Order: sequence, then structure tokens, then C-alpha cells
Amino acid sequence: PRNIIIDTDPGQDDAVAILLALASPEELEVLGVTAVAGNVPLALTEKNARIVCELAGRPDVKVFAGCDAPMNRKLVTAEHVHGKTGLDGPVMPEPTMPLQQGHAVDFIIETLRAEPAGTVTLCPLGPLTNIATAFERAPDIVERVQEIVLMGGAYFEVGNITPAAEFNIYVDPEAAKIVFASGVPIVVMPLDVTHKALTNRVRVEAFRDLGSEAGRMVAEWTDFFERFDKEKYGSEGAPLHDPCVIAYLLKPELFSGRHVNVEVETGSELTLGMTVADWWGVTDRAPNATFMDDVDADGFFALLTQRIGRL
Ligand code: BDR
Ligand code: CA
Repeated sequence: PRNIIIDTDPGQDDAVAILLALASPEELEVLGVTAVAGNVPLALTEKNARIVCELAGRPDVKVFAGCDAPMNRKLVTAEHVHGKTGLDGPVMPEPTMPLQQGHAVDFIIETLRAEPAGTVTLCPLGPLTNIATAFERAPDIVERVQEIVLMGGAYFEVGNITPAAEFNIYVDPEAAKIVFASGVPIVVMPLDVTHKALTNRVRVEAFRDLGSEAGRMVAEWTDFFERFDKEKYGSEGAPLHDPCVIAYLLKPELFSGRHVNVEVETGSELTLGMTVADWWGVTDRAPNATFMDDVDADGFFALLTQRIGRL
């Protein structure tokens, strides 16, 4: 299996992504889950990460707490989407599995140094603070990363937290800039993709019909998560953003996009955190990321339901 570190701010959609990874041990070995402040503060994201690992029957997974604020900005959170706990919806038990000693950034650095070069993939599902801090602190690890597959950014779909920016990039644009400039091969799942991975009644009931605790939780998280998109955008369901990252590792053929240059705006107040993708190749800036723009949504939900069904 491929070694991955999931860097995350759960978040209902993060939670589904973690479940998808833990349900796929033949393809993915989760070396650790590193929590970052994002949708809700760090104390909640690390706790939520543990709740999700326990739900997957995997209290052995190493969960670390990381950065509690962006590199040089105040934290912006998204309780308006995810609720007060970050995992609103079903009533969840308190986690009993331990939080690992040590900082997530140190875990990322030590793991990349310990594993053979080119064998660890990073899967950021939240603001890029932990990853960029690790790269700044230990530049030697950068070339050891196999690939970064992240959820963040937007191009044609523009923003969800401001008119110009997607949440994960907006929260820590300086961190995003460091990651996009790192030279590591990057695959981006922007809103252009995730807004096509929408839940609907049939898809949510398929999770509930699994008849398992995990299936019920996914359905109830989605029920909660959907209300925001229904009220705000009048859409039928909610985008399952973060699971697209894990689905890509399992079935890359579900997604398509282009290898282009992507730069992150950090200067302008108006467009802070915008991901400027040179989709039409109108500059001579070198391509640094594969920016996805389409997904086979039926295939994506079929995979998700099948794998959650294993838990
Ligand atoms: C991203 O922001 C968070 O609210 C979600 O978990 C996802 O990672 C979508 O913009
Ligand atoms: Ca997230």
C-alpha cells in the first residue's frame, strides 16, 4: 500500500475522507493523521480526528495535534458550515483513544526523514499551515515527498469564503504559497471538482442503507452538512470536498484536469487566497500542479458507498 499522512481539520467532509482511507487498507497505509486549526479550532479538530478513527475501528491510528493558527494571520473558522463542534449532526461519543505526544509538524518531518525518499504522500484537507511549517523548518524533507494531493482552491467556481477564495487556501494563504512553490508534484481538488461531487437523496440513503454505524454517521453528517448548501445556494445536496483527495488515490481515473501553473494571491485584500490557475497557458510560468476540473460523480459515490460499507 501507498504511505499517506492525512492533514486535516474535521469537518464532516474531512471525516468521510478519513473513513474512506481507513476503509482502504489494501491501497493506503495511513501513517498518521495530523490535525490543524481550520473549520474549528485545533482542540476540536484533533478530538474529531480521534472520534473518526475510533468510528472506523482504528484506535491504533496515530493522531497528532499541529498548528493552532495560520502562519501569520488570525484563524478564520467555518462554524456556519460545520456547526459548533465541527462535526455537528449525530451525537458522537467522546473519544477514548489517546492523542499522540509531540507536535504534528515534528511527526511530518520525522516521518519523511525516516521513510525512504519518495514513498510518503501528503493529503492536506484543511489549511496548509502544518505542511508549510514543516517545509520551512526542515527544507530537506521537501524533495522526499512523493506527492501532495490536496483539497483547496478554485478557478472557474471562484470562492466559497470570499467571492475570490476557497476556504482552505484563504485561511492560510502564505502557507499555500509555500506549498505551491515547493516543487513537490501536486494534485489539486478545487471547488471546480468538489462542487460536482454533490450529495442527493439517493446517495445519502445509500449510506444509511448500509445499516452500519459508519454508514449512519456518514448519512447524518451529510444531512447536517447539506442544510448550508440548500439554504445558501438552493442546491440539491452538499459537496463532499475532502473525500475527493482520497478517492483520487484509489481511482485516479475518476478525475480529470490539467497540469498548469497555480499561484496564490497573498497581497490583495480583495482577492486574498485566490488560486490563479493559468488554465489557458497564457503566461510562461512553469506548471507546478495538476489542477482538476471534473469528476465522475456516480463513480465517486459508488466507490465511497462500497468502501464505507466495509467499516
Ligand atoms: C474546504 O473547507 C472546509 O470547510 C471543508 O472541510 C473543505 O476542506 C472546502 O472549501
Ligand atoms: Ca477540510
